[in-house]
Amino acid sequence: MLICAKRFYNALEIISMFSFAKQMMLRKFGVFKGFTPLRSGEGELKQASELLKILEDKALGGIKVERKKSENVVWHAGKVKKEDRERFLGQKGVILWFTGLSGSGKSTIAHELEERLLKMGKLSYVLDGDNIRHGLNGDLGFSPEDREENIRRIGEVAKLFADLGIITMTAFISPYQKDRQRVRELVKDGEFIEIYVKCPIDELKNRDPKGMYEKAIKGEIKNFTGISAPYEEPENPELILNTDSESIDESVEKVIEYLRNKDII
Ligand SMILES: Nc1ncnc2c1ncn2[C@@H]1O[C@H](COP(=O)(O)OP(=O)(O)OP(=O)(O)O)[C@@H](O)[C@H]1O
Ligand SMILES: [Mg+2]
Repeated sequence: MLICAKRFYNALEIISMFSFAKQMMLRKFGVFKGFTPLRSGEGELKQASELLKILEDKALGGIKVERKKSENVVWHAGKVKKEDRERFLGQKGVILWFTGLSGSGKSTIAHELEERLLKMGKLSYVLDGDNIRHGLNGDLGFSPEDREENIRRIGEVAKLFADLGIITMTAFISPYQKDRQRVRELVKDGEFIEIYVKCPIDELKNRDPKGMYEKAIKGEIKNFTGISAPYEEPENPELILNTDSESIDESVEKVIEYLRNKDII
């Protein structure tokens, strides 16, 4: 079931547009099997999500098509509460949201911290950018819309992890202030801890651990944050880690101190 985001199309018009689109798909790919896998002219299987994209981009001339939202879903409250799990684990479930340019040190610091916390008997987990893009968010690119959806999904996953009582770290560039703010609003006050991993761009071009800056400067990578895409600095982060002047250990220690001061660990 599909709906059209533009309000001025009525149901009949949408049906006729899809019928038109179907004709076009028939002409383009030969065989059309509803919205389940479709065999293209080259014989490869096109997934339903891809078909939706084609309908949006080609057949419907750029009209935005969305999946219908779930209806009649009711939240089932569990007997075991977040506080019960936190008591069980002896810690608070929070989100440590690391944000900063590529190469600033988000992953390095988060994974180091994860190890330190485990040695202290505290359970944490890192949701890391590239890893999540391998699976859950493998269907997303780097356009502003896809970046927004990337962060929205991560935010929801992080919220679930924090609800489990886990010290949940996220290591995503997350360049837009409004996307980070939206995640902050998903959880209670104090449960979203924004950590700005700050490093001057010249230092990052020198570090360039993945060779990405070189490629971005040459124009081989498009939409690269800090070079050809914007990064909006956090306005009021709970913590700033200056990785050009602090060591990895010093940054990790700063976060641990924050967690202790707030009685999270
Ligand atoms: N003080 C420091 N803190 C963190 N990393 C540092 C520091 N000094 C040097 N580095 C180096 O900087 C690099 C940071 O890379 P890392 O992959 O952690 O960045 P990232 O922010 O996760 O980038 P991306 O967004 O591309 O995943 C590593 O090679 C790390 O060794
Ligand atoms: Mg990283």
